Amino acid sequence: MCGIVGYVGKRDAFPVLIDGLKRLEYRGYDSAGVAYFCNNKIKTVKVTGFIKELERELGNIEDNPKIGIAHTRWATHGEPSITNAHPHTDCTGKIAVVHNGIIENYRALRQYLTERGHKFTTDTDTEVIAHLIEDVYNGGTDMPFWKAIRGALREVEGTYGIAVLFSEEPDRIFAARHGSPLLIGAGEDEYLVASDAAAVLRYTNRVIYLDEGTLATVKADSIVISTLDAESITPKIEKISLSLNEIEKGGFPHFMLKEIFEQPQTLENAFRGRLNLEEGTARLNGLKDYFDDLKDVERLVITACGTSWHAALIGEYLIEELARVPVDVDYASEFRYRNPIIKDNEAVIVISQSGETADTLAALREAKRQGAPVFGIVNVVGSTIARETDAGVYIHAGPEIGVASTKAFTSQVMVLEEIALLLGRMHGYSMAQGVDLIKEIKRVPELVELFLKKEDEIGTIRKIAEKYYMCNNFLYLGRGINFPVALEGALKLKEISYVHAEGYPAAEMKHGPIALIDKNTPAVFIATEDPLYDKIVSNIEEIRARGGPVIAVATEGDEQIMELTDNVIYVPQAVPLVMPMITTLPMQLLAYHIAVIRGTNVDQPRNLAKSVTVE
Ligand code: F6R
Repeated sequence: MCGIVGYVGKRDAFPVLIDGLKRLEYRGYDSAGVAYFCNNKIKTVKVTGFIKELERELGNIEDNPKIGIAHTRWATHGEPSITNAHPHTDCTGKIAVVHNGIIENYRALRQYLTERGHKFTTDTDTEVIAHLIEDVYNGGTDMPFWKAIRGALREVEGTYGIAVLFSEEPDRIFAARHGSPLLIGAGEDEYLVASDAAAVLRYTNRVIYLDEGTLATVKADSIVISTLDAESITPKIEKISLSLNEIEKGGFPHFMLKEIFEQPQTLENAFRGRLNLEEGTARLNGLKDYFDDLKDVERLVITACGTSWHAALIGEYLIEELARVPVDVDYASEFRYRNPIIKDNEAVIVISQSGETADTLAALREAKRQGAPVFGIVNVVGSTIARETDAGVYIHAGPEIGVASTKAFTSQVMVLEEIALLLGRMHGYSMAQGVDLIKEIKRVPELVELFLKKEDEIGTIRKIAEKYYMCNNFLYLGRGINFPVALEGALKLKEISYVHAEGYPAAEMKHGPIALIDKNTPAVFIATEDPLYDKIVSNIEEIRARGGPVIAVATEGDEQIMELTDNVIYVPQAVPLVMPMITTLPMQLLAYHIAVIRGTNVDQPRNLAKSVTVE
């Protein structure tokens, strides 16, 4: 999604802005631009395509501004083009705006402003903000510019994080947010404005997260924040614990591969200090204030999008199995608009890596509106979802830069294991069972590491990728707790290699999808040892009988599966309840290697954004 960077301070602004934009590249974009002051006049430079292009253009400019705003655009209104790239200006060229989010009433505003003589030059929703501010500013006498921004934003419906330059006040950046993330990096006599902490980290680890509905005036040596109702707010500086290493590739060809290989560590981070072996339960201090609600809870709703939704499905299996509490899993985009039923003694869990997904945030707000306690499972510390939930558990996976989620998914599952265990112990799961499960959970990072170090298995995955990369359709099949892993495998392949893939519960295949089977449609089975193993073997036979190639993910030592399938990837033995955190690895690696062979942009696949801040 769009990314914003602004800088005001003692340094040359261009390198800071370019560095910041590069750190936001992973969010996905199709064009980029910068606005800055030259002799107190606003100049803009815009490109389509990569930030490198923008860097080259800026390299040809002799100006050395100390203040500027920059943007990467992920097109929503109007095609990706230089005209539609941000920053956008008003009629006079005195106001420049970059924007992340969507202005929902932009058509009405555009018509109103056009009738008042404003000339629009782009297809974007953002341009209305520049003209609207201009209109409000010109309508008042001696109106301070920040008041004009406030007045304009009051008319706007939708979501925004914006940074604004105004040529009559060339020493400051105005920044405001509602629904889209925005933070201020506070350095020594310099400030940065950014939609993501990664963009400011090289310069400072001190940040001020702007609250919903706030407006900041940022100068090199001061910052003033107020609500859109003009109430002043004291800036609260927080230290972020991110390091630059965490947002660099560290010798891997792609962030995605680096993040896959980080999983032994990230899985451990997700349970460190949270497992109480003596009492066979989980220690989740983040939820402490809600233990009474959890003891009485009669139903849980878990809501999320995409990969996080797949983690939710695994959570459903885990919680129902351990705690015998009914769980419903819902797409956040459906939940928010369905007038969902949430009764007393029910609670909602939202899952989000970024903590900014617009649909998940709206689902959270809807659940709160209905009076339910809402808990978060979030990766990005300080994100909007993390801040708006009543309580929650961070997954501590560190920054996930590859657009396709990998390590965040397994860590979300790990945290769901902990929540299921905690709930289980409140609802009848015995201490002895809890102790056994904790021992199995603690082995997971080691098993994941063992798998990732096995040259044979990684080599097998590469060979499978070479054999099938030309296929245009794949089926991913699993049962029980591994069915969501099949969904996740299919999603990974679609996202990064642009190959059509579908995930199904294996037994469901014969109710339709089996018609797809031919020699060019491989079926990837998750066929590890569990109570449904024999059933899945029958499903494999059904595919074989129809001439479809079969790739199986099986438990080490399972010789029989060799005879039934074309290729086997062996994973270490583990109990079924923790198996998804292991069987996911071959899914991620298979998608990765197919994408590499097909030559796609693995870390920034076409059309996708990392943080989906529009609905
Ligand atoms: C897939 C992927 C997306 C996200 C989805 C939700 O690899 O990354 O499907 O899972 O957009 O994002 P978060 O978890 O940030 O709410």
